[in-house]
Order: sequence, then C-alpha cells, then structure tokens
Amino acid sequence: MLKIGIVGLGFMGQMHYRCWKARDDAQIVAICDANKHIIEDSRKVVGNIEGAENAIDFTKSNIYHDFKKMLAEETLDAISLTLPTYLHAACTAEALESGVNVLCEKPMGLNLAECDSMIAAAKSSGKVLQIGHCVRFWPEYAKTKEIVSGGEYGRVLAATFQRLSEVPTWSCDNWIMNEQRSGGVVLDLHIHDTDFVQYMFGMPRAVCSFAGKDGKGRLAHVVTQYLYDNNSVITAEGGWAMTPAFGFEMSFNIVQEKATIVYDCTREPAFKVCPAKGEAFTPEVQQGDGYILEIEHFVRAIKGEKITPVTTLEASRDSVRIVEAEKQSIQTGKIVPIE
Ligand SMILES: NC(=O)c1ccc[n+]([C@@H]2O[C@H](COP(=O)([O-])OP(=O)(O)OC[C@H]3O[C@@H](n4cnc5c(N)ncnc54)[C@H](O)[C@@H]3O)[C@@H](O)[C@H]2O)c1
Repeated sequence: MLKIGIVGLGFMGQMHYRCWKARDDAQIVAICDANKHIIEDSRKVVGNIEGAENAIDFTKSNIYHDFKKMLAEETLDAISLTLPTYLHAACTAEALESGVNVLCEKPMGLNLAECDSMIAAAKSSGKVLQIGHCVRFWPEYAKTKEIVSGGEYGRVLAATFQRLSEVPTWSCDNWIMNEQRSGGVVLDLHIHDTDFVQYMFGMPRAVCSFAGKDGKGRLAHVVTQYLYDNNSVITAEGGWAMTPAFGFEMSFNIVQEKATIVYDCTREPAFKVCPAKGEAFTPEVQQGDGYILEIEHFVRAIKGEKITPVTTLEASRDSVRIVEAEKQSIQTGKIVPIE
C-alpha cells in the first residue's frame, strides 16, 4: 500500500485527493494545508472543473499545517504537491531530498531557473518527480494524438485549442491573480494547451502572441500562433476573463487532409471525428480523466514499471520555456524564436 500525502488542499488538492482515494493500492495518510480552518473550508465548492468537491474524510489522515513537520513525522512514499505555483520549486526539492516521490501540479515552476533546480533535485535524490500536465492524459486529447500520429487522415493543416474560464476567484489569498506568484493567465491556464501543442507537434521554431488585458492591466486573454516549418497553422487561445454565465470551456479543432477532429467539453457529444467520407463518429477513449490517468502513470513510475513516458521533466520545462517566449512576444509585439 502506497502511503500518500496531499500538500495544499485547495481546488487541485481536493481533486488529487479524490483520485488517490479511488485507488486500492494507496492510502492518504497525511494532509498538509497552511490554512488552520481547512476542515470547514474544504467543504466549500472551489475551482472551475467538476469533481474536486467530494467530501474529504479527515478521520483517515493525519492533518498538518506545516510541511516540514509533515515530512519529518510521516513515512511517505509520495505526495501530491498541489500548492500555489510560487511554492512548487522549493517544496518539491525538500520532499525529494527527504526521500519522497513527488507529483507536482503544473506549471513546473515560475521560471526556467526554478525548473532547473527541480530537475537537479530529482536527479540527485533518485526519486520520481512528475509534473501534472493532465491534458496529455485527458482521454480525448490522448486519443486525438494517437489518431493524428497514426497518419490515417493525412497531414495536419491547422489546429486550434481553446481554454476559457471565468476569473479564478477561489485561490487562497487570491495568489492566482498575482502575476509574481502564479505567472498570470499565460503560465497558469494557457500552458495546458502550450504543453499539448508541444506534445503533439514538437517544439515550435517561434511563437507570435497577443493578449487582452483586464481593468487592472493584467494579461487576461492570450492568443498564440506556434510557428513550424511544415506550414501547419497551430494556434491556442487561453483566457480567464469570461463571465460566470459562460463557465468553463476546453476545446479544439484539428483539421487534417481527410478528417476534422473536434472536441468541446461543453457540447454533447463532446468528441467527434468527422471523416471526409461517411458519418461523424465518437471514438472510444480511456475511462477516467486526466487527473486519474496522470496519477496512474506516476504510480507505475514509482513502482519501477517500464512505461513509455507521456510526460518528462524536460518537456515540462520546455513548456515553461515556450510560455516565456509567448510573454516576450506579447510585450514586444514581435515573433519570438525558441532558441
Ligand atoms: N491541472 C489543473 O487542471 C490545474 C487546475 C487548477 C490549478 N492547478 C495548479 O494547481 C496548483 C494549486 O492551485 P489551486 O487552484 O488548487 O490553488 P488553491 O489556492 O485552491 O489551493 C492552494 C492550497 O494550498 C494551501 N497552502 C498555501 N500555502 C501553503 C503552505 N506553505 N503549506 C501548506 N499549504 C499551503 C492553501 O491554504 C490552499 O488550500 C497551482 O500550481 C495551479 O496552477 C492545476
């Protein structure tokens, strides 16, 4: 039985809790959250994705408010590190160095230096570190990559990805809306699609981004074109200035020579392959969601199983690198090469 700790029981901590709880090879023995009122506060609905709000059974886990104390007192196999982004690098290194495997939420770090320190800590500890780029594991996204890579429908002419949310108001201390602590909408939200674009199409040679700002001058809605040498037109749009009545949408359109593949979590059916000949159909996808499946990947890595890695630390770092270029492009109004 794997002994698991959840560190940071906000929106994502509760999501990871749900996934770990559903496994029969894991036991959540410890929960750490700085909030002294976490038991009452965790009953409030948080976040923009359903599924995180299941009741937490606090009688089954030791509760800590201090991360170092938890590491010192518990013998853990792994933690889900679901802390605000500005805490990822330091806390990940501390956990790895104390011999604990870490599944750290995305984005890996606030900048490349933080990512490098996390990679170094993983190497020197010999422990598993995985970054929670859940979209690579999202069943419809994973199936789409499989279909496109299979080549059955020819070349990709164009692809667009959208991730649109209302203003994230649930975060503790409103850290998400503080660019210094979260990296803003580009690093926090839009990186999901940046990372998937990288996974599907490889590193772009350059990016060209534009962004709309909110009333306080913060980036709120970004559109990026990822430039490749093969003439495919690849764009992604990410925004968190949608109205509450809009809610949340993640979607894509992939235009291939012999099919169009579409996904939109707000539609029914959400996922369709529309071939050049014949009727549209919905392919079978894996059971579960991106969080459940990324945890399965992490567990298999901890157990030392031979797996084809869906995500790597270098790829997670590369996504931060692309995002930095996107921000530079927004600031300068220029196409920014990815060196
Ligand atoms: N993969 C996804 O789909 C997804 C979605 C949302 C957020 N995220 C990422 O997950 C991470 C957490 O985001 P969130 O929305 O859950 O934030 P949140 O504010 O809802 O939760 C953070 C929790 O950490 C606790 N905390 C803060 N400082 C602490 C400390 N020093 N020690 C212990 N606990 C502490 C807070 O009290 C809070 O409960 C971020 O990196 C974010 O980018 C990922």
